[in-house]
Amino acid sequence: MKIPEKTEKLLNEQFYNELYAAHIYFAISAYFKHTPYQGMASWMRLQSKEEMEHAMKIYEYLTERGSKFVADAVRKPEKTDFASPLEAFQAAYAHEQLVTSQIYKLLETANDEKDWATADFLSWFVKEQIEEEKNTSDFVRGLEYAGDDKNLLIGVDKWAAKRAE
Ligand SMILES: [Fe+2]
Ligand SMILES: [Fe+2]
Repeated sequence: MKIPEKTEKLLNEQFYNELYAAHIYFAISAYFKHTPYQGMASWMRLQSKEEMEHAMKIYEYLTERGSKFVADAVRKPEKTDFASPLEAFQAAYAHEQLVTSQIYKLLETANDEKDWATADFLSWFVKEQIEEEKNTSDFVRGLEYAGDDKNLLIGVDKWAAKRAE
């Protein structure tokens, strides 16, 4: 059974939404590169890689189901500079919430079109978004707590540096 039209269109869009997220994380990582916070720079770069893997998952799913893959452009991040590590993580957290709403919309459409295979495929993304929102909001809380205290900020950076993949 082919992926229905609206679901197929949104899956194609989600492929680019994930690449857009990767692009945003690259921009945030580059911001951190010019700060003393190299742990957070590395965290953001790893997150960018993860977003590309999400895009890859969608690409594989679409093509395995015999659907059309539409080659298109990736949007440019709106913001590439930040006033503080807190502002950078707030942007990441806000973006993750937006991605969650994109996944929900996709799931709603797959359900409307009775594409149960896609609904099942998307359950991985639903769970992944819980984690992505938690990870970014944990940093927002940590950075809010740290405020302008440089020692605490370095502490948060060490925490970020622990991320392996
Ligand atoms: Fe993602
Ligand atoms: Fe994400």
